[in-house]
Amino acid sequence: MNRNPVFEKLGRRLRLAVIGGGTGSFIGAMHRQAAVLDGRFDIVAGALSSRPEKSLNDGRQIGLPDDRIYSDALELIRLESARPDGAEVISIMTPNDSHYLYASAALEAGFDVICDKPMTNTLEDAESLNQLVDRTGLVFCLTHNYSGYPMVRQAREMVRNGSLGVVRLIQIEYVQGGKADENDPDPTDGNLPWRYDPVRGGPSLVMGDIGTHAHHLVRYISGLEVSELCAEIGAIVPGRKTHDFAGALLRFDNGARGCFWVTQAAAGVENCLRIRVSGTAGTIEWNQEIPGRLDFKPLAGPAEVRTPNGPGILPLAKRASRIVAGHPEGFHEAFANIYSDAAEVIAARRTGTEPDEAATTYPSVFDGLMGVRFVHDVIRSANGNGQWIRCTRDRTPSSSGTV
Ligand SMILES: NC(=O)c1ccc[n+]([C@@H]2O[C@H](COP(=O)([O-])OP(=O)(O)OC[C@H]3O[C@@H](n4cnc5c(N)ncnc54)[C@H](O)[C@@H]3O)[C@@H](O)[C@H]2O)c1
Repeated sequence: MNRNPVFEKLGRRLRLAVIGGGTGSFIGAMHRQAAVLDGRFDIVAGALSSRPEKSLNDGRQIGLPDDRIYSDALELIRLESARPDGAEVISIMTPNDSHYLYASAALEAGFDVICDKPMTNTLEDAESLNQLVDRTGLVFCLTHNYSGYPMVRQAREMVRNGSLGVVRLIQIEYVQGGKADENDPDPTDGNLPWRYDPVRGGPSLVMGDIGTHAHHLVRYISGLEVSELCAEIGAIVPGRKTHDFAGALLRFDNGARGCFWVTQAAAGVENCLRIRVSGTAGTIEWNQEIPGRLDFKPLAGPAEVRTPNGPGILPLAKRASRIVAGHPEGFHEAFANIYSDAAEVIAARRTGTEPDEAATTYPSVFDGLMGVRFVHDVIRSANGNGQWIRCTRDRTPSSSGTV
């Protein structure tokens, strides 16, 4: 474990239980590796599947004792909260429709929560979770893991320290090609994968999978909120029943303009999450596929490059870099930065100390709420044939938001 005053005071690791993430899952192993990378968590319990035999096998594979392996996540929450050595933090990596049920049950039982995105499928659940976190005072961290990259944090700090001047333009794209072919599962098949089922996957496949990541990255780096948008959403692959692309023009609360483009149907593209932020004094550009490079193009000088632990690195980015310059870090380490920041804030709360301010930029329940609102706003505008709408900002979803 890195030297850290909060953990020195706690004197041990936090006890974590995982819900979801069994063998064959996309993101489960990533969560578990991220949780333990900096030695701030021990994984002590799990419900890795709702199928008892699979959960038992998968739990054993990650080294859990049989009496800490569950197949019912609500039972895990109930029994772990009753044990003196029980888990203190619950991490949720199940299909989208179960996030609200497990997160709210865990918070009600006194656990701090780490949860994957999108936070919920419905606006009502997102609002309710936001209020529940407010009421309980517990930590809720949403794993928008791209905000854990050192160069994303550098970008945030460069916006905040004025290197770009006043932000005027933001372009965000999250382009993948995994759904470029036409072999979707048959919706009449009783075994439809959860992502393709709107009840389980949510109102939009592409927005749930990657749209909320892109939206969060914009807000994390720029510190701006989208105030108005006009959007189109749909399927570019003929016959597809779910959304595989969404595009929107954005107006930000400081008057800046932006554009947002996400798709999973761009043949041959892998995981191209790319952002450009331009201000009155310069532009920054970052591409997730080359995560250790941040381009800075000042208005009044030659183009520059920033790298993790390289010259010009700012404290928030340095804190997120584990190794000397030139030694690549990537997806795992960025994911771990989110876990480790959340761990510091959780440990601080439990020891009555203050976390380092720099630990507090992990995505919160409010960020999750804004993401779910954005999904619904994009759909609302698109359903109105791309009319400009005011984005949902207060606690009451706006039904008359057309500008
Ligand atoms: N942060 C990221 O970059 C990222 C990437 C991929 C997926 N995700 C999110 O992670 C979540 C899971 O996605 P995935 O692609 O890993 O899904 P997946 O279908 O590959 O895996 C889901 C896992 O959850 C388990 N599970 C399902 N219901 C359960 C229940 N009720 N109790 C316990 N276990 C249960 C399944 O057995 C499976 O192991 C989704 O919310 C998704 O949006 C996030």
